[in-house]
Amino acid sequence: MKKLIVQLVFLSVLLPYSVKCRAKLFTIESSDIMMVLRTEKDSDVSLAYFGDKFYGYNSLSNKQFPARPDTKEAFTPMLYPAYGGRMTIEPILKLTHFDGNETCQMKLDSVAQRKVSENINRTTVYLSDKRYKLAVSIAFDAYWKENVITQQVTIANHEKGPVSLDRFYSSYLPVAASSYYLTHFYGTWADEMQIDETKLSQGTVSIETKKEVRATQSENPSFMLALNQPAKPDCGDIIMGALAWSGNFKLNFEVDECNTLNILSGINPFASSYKLPSKQTFVTPKMIITYSHTGYGQASRNLHDWALGYNLKGGNQPGKVVLNSWEGTSFNFNEEVIKTMIDNAAKLGIETFVLDDGWFGNNYPRNSDQQGLGDWQVNRKKLPHGVDALANYAVSKGLKFGIWIEPEMVNPQSDLAKAKPSWIVKSPYREIPTLRNQWLLDLSNPAVQNYVYQTVKQTIGLSKNISYLKWDANRHVESFGSTYLPKDKQSHFWIDYVNGLYSVYQRLRNDFPDIEIQLCASGGGRLDFGALQYHNEFWTSDDTDPFQRLKIQFATNLIYPPKATAAHVSKSPNYQTGNTSSLKFRFHVAMMGRLGIELQPKDLSEQELSFVKSCISDYKSIRHIVDFGDWYPLHSPYSGDNYAATQFVTKDKKEALLFAFSMDFHPRTYMPVFKLAGLDSHKMYKVMEICTSERSSFWGNNMSFSGDYLMNAGVNLNLNLRGESSLFYLQEQ
Ligand code: DGJ
Repeated sequence: MKKLIVQLVFLSVLLPYSVKCRAKLFTIESSDIMMVLRTEKDSDVSLAYFGDKFYGYNSLSNKQFPARPDTKEAFTPMLYPAYGGRMTIEPILKLTHFDGNETCQMKLDSVAQRKVSENINRTTVYLSDKRYKLAVSIAFDAYWKENVITQQVTIANHEKGPVSLDRFYSSYLPVAASSYYLTHFYGTWADEMQIDETKLSQGTVSIETKKEVRATQSENPSFMLALNQPAKPDCGDIIMGALAWSGNFKLNFEVDECNTLNILSGINPFASSYKLPSKQTFVTPKMIITYSHTGYGQASRNLHDWALGYNLKGGNQPGKVVLNSWEGTSFNFNEEVIKTMIDNAAKLGIETFVLDDGWFGNNYPRNSDQQGLGDWQVNRKKLPHGVDALANYAVSKGLKFGIWIEPEMVNPQSDLAKAKPSWIVKSPYREIPTLRNQWLLDLSNPAVQNYVYQTVKQTIGLSKNISYLKWDANRHVESFGSTYLPKDKQSHFWIDYVNGLYSVYQRLRNDFPDIEIQLCASGGGRLDFGALQYHNEFWTSDDTDPFQRLKIQFATNLIYPPKATAAHVSKSPNYQTGNTSSLKFRFHVAMMGRLGIELQPKDLSEQELSFVKSCISDYKSIRHIVDFGDWYPLHSPYSGDNYAATQFVTKDKKEALLFAFSMDFHPRTYMPVFKLAGLDSHKMYKVMEICTSERSSFWGNNMSFSGDYLMNAGVNLNLNLRGESSLFYLQEQ
């Protein structure tokens, strides 16, 4: 009897205990994907799952993770592995407390979940150090329709003195698969966003920059990860991620001894130790991630939809056709030249004229890139009646008017450089190296932030008819140092510069909500979702050669939306590469993004002008499909066979576009077959070749086919020579 009582007492103690011990699960979910957080003993929280949504997730509360080979203890993937816990991987947070202790041990305080809007659910995880008054909150926003989850961390210092932050990533994502194929986007000026796919093995690979400005010219803060097999457009598990930060970033991929891939994304900790005063908070940039089990096409479409809905300015407005003066005139223009360009632009059906570099500077006239940057007064010799006269002229011809500016920079030969030497980024006692003959202004300094704001405001104020701005930035940081920041905060420069830039943008956006702004930075040099949130489009690359652009735009559109991808038709031979191409091929490539023109129209023949006019008119009738439709990467220009094909389909599947390209010579005996995607199998579609003056490459041109046929039998095209291309418009019958 005594034994039974002891047993019952024992059970009654144990039962509630085991119920209490059962891990609690929190789901962060969208319509198709899900992240599951789990409370662990010792009030830890782990990331128990990320992937396709499923309903029997309750069993995750018992899921066991791989054990350490030596001690047999589990490697449970913590949600926030700070330095000082049991993890030996690169930590998401490493700091020095006010008293010199360099470790953290975080515990879970609470989890809060709420609806931000019909489409967004927010989960906030509150953690704090077990010993110190240091709090961390991690906010996850799940976008229901777009299947995108964003993550952002806030670190709050309630300690007695400052803490020094040495590492402060935005997100940690542990992934378990048999193998990992990482695609990153790399390049250089005029060759940005190239693709490389690498199989990861145990060890660390990082994608990073230390350039700060034009940070994305050599690496982009985004990635595509294929699990178990190389990335495919229409099958297989894909994780895509992009960091919304316009300065130094680091994406760290560490495969550990359990073959778990540990992904950390955030601001690059390199030389950026940050002193956080007591009672203050530090907010990391947002990391944006998505997942698809049907290949990278779907993951890209998720990011595009999210960008149009929640990131890009004017995401729901069609992109107008621009004529930009740069490749047509360079610095060599006057009022008459520009007025003639505007006249011709109007005749061609162009909707916005943009006056590029060269319109300013008097003591140091901007007639080349040698001088004048910083002196944002209209050059009286070139434009005696001011920019206002040109803007009014454009508007009188039915066009909008835009203007170029590079407000973060200064030429040594300028009034500004002479007046404000303390505003220039420089290392004390060192020479200040120039890049494109220019220096960088120190945006960590509030006086410089104000100057940049005032400069842009004043430039917009040159005419009430300026409604578009091209914001350029043509150098990165090489020798850094701030005369504004105190001695012990020089390492804040990298973070304060970007936050300074964002604060200027925010002010401008508040004051000029309707102005269109193109993100430029030498083309592709500041391409990230942090900068994009203030812009309507981005200048994809200074390389306008359509053969190069096929690759650059394809890789760019894996992450960033075609609608924002400024793609301009320029002259042949191309001024960067010397390649020749037909006007038709150039148009087809540019029509896959936001079409623009970079030509001097007066140099075109009558026949060319009429082709340009008809392509612009065709583009206007189909741009809603490019801007708001779904993007299907049918055939990658990187596939090695020198063919490329891309499709766009409207959300209601009533219309579609097929772009197909031959990038090199192929024997006439071969007809490439492109199987279409995203159509309704039961609908009939009429296939019509547009934007062409030649015989159709498709035997079935102007005929109707079922969606089923087009997606299974495909279309076989007569595209064989280098530079041949076709554009088909498909309409539901
Ligand atoms: C670099 C840009 O990418 C070009 O389009 C042009 O605006 C030049 N700067 C002007 O200096």
